[in-house]
Amino acid sequence: MIELKNVTKYFRVGFFGNKKNAVKDLSLNIEEGQVTGFFGPNGAGKSTTIKMIVGLINPSVGGIKINGYDASDYRARLKLGYLPESPSFPRGLKGIEIISYYSNLLNIRASKDAIDEALKSAGIFHAKNIQAHKYSKGMTQRLALAISILGDPEILIFDEPLSGLDPIGRKEFKDIIFKLKERKKTIFFSSHVLADSKELCDRIAVLVNGRLIKNKDVAEIEKEAEAYSEERKDNSLTGEYNTPLEIYLYDLMLKSGKN
Ligand SMILES: Nc1ncnc2c1ncn2[C@@H]1O[C@H](COP(=O)(O)OP(=O)(O)OP(=O)(O)O)[C@@H](O)[C@H]1O
Ligand SMILES: [Mg+2]
Repeated sequence: MIELKNVTKYFRVGFFGNKKNAVKDLSLNIEEGQVTGFFGPNGAGKSTTIKMIVGLINPSVGGIKINGYDASDYRARLKLGYLPESPSFPRGLKGIEIISYYSNLLNIRASKDAIDEALKSAGIFHAKNIQAHKYSKGMTQRLALAISILGDPEILIFDEPLSGLDPIGRKEFKDIIFKLKERKKTIFFSSHVLADSKELCDRIAVLVNGRLIKNKDVAEIEKEAEAYSEERKDNSLTGEYNTPLEIYLYDLMLKSGKN
């Protein structure tokens, strides 16, 4: 469904315009009807990868295809919903005005009922007549989520959907993702929080320093994690990471980050 082939992205930085690689030779298939969690530390290249998938920026090298169309082709985006990392909206507009604007902008032209439905699913219907610059972070996130699910797209790309949400918000957001999963949507979401991996994902991809260091089914990674926890002697990790899977991925990122 989504195919990244040998994708490298570099940015020109500094006075001399030196190349800085954000993503290096990344090949990854995102399968139809699956939930793929995309994990990695700050600066790993997750958002850069996501922006390339949704066609906001182009790869420097390599290519991305969505349902056979190049990611830069508008047809690749027709069935795709995107929740950006830090959504923000123009000042002064009410939630309902913003979502209606996006509905037209994205050429979805959703009916009033469909817009209300999206707002309800995202848990922000109650605040639709409030100006969005008065929203809390979680409310802003919810409005962005409502926009991303407008038109009931087949593919959903969420960049850090759970960041900045309180425990209740996190649970509600996860429930929304579960519901989308039940409806066989293809979901690709990034996160730092390893604990979110197991319950939401069919598959886990881990990026460190722009490189893909793991890309497997959760069941397979769990097996590896169990084996790893038997041989791991150091018990200094307590509190933050509890399950073998969390500890395994934590160690993996730490080790790969040093290389
Ligand atoms: N427009 C840009 N110009 C220069 N460097 C950039 C640009 N965008 C991203 N980078 C660099 O690319 C690297 C990857 O950034 P990216 O935002 O993709 O990381 P991330 O995995 O999403 O991190 P986080 O978890 O903090 O959101 C970083 O080193 C960042 O500084
Ligand atoms: Mg990011």
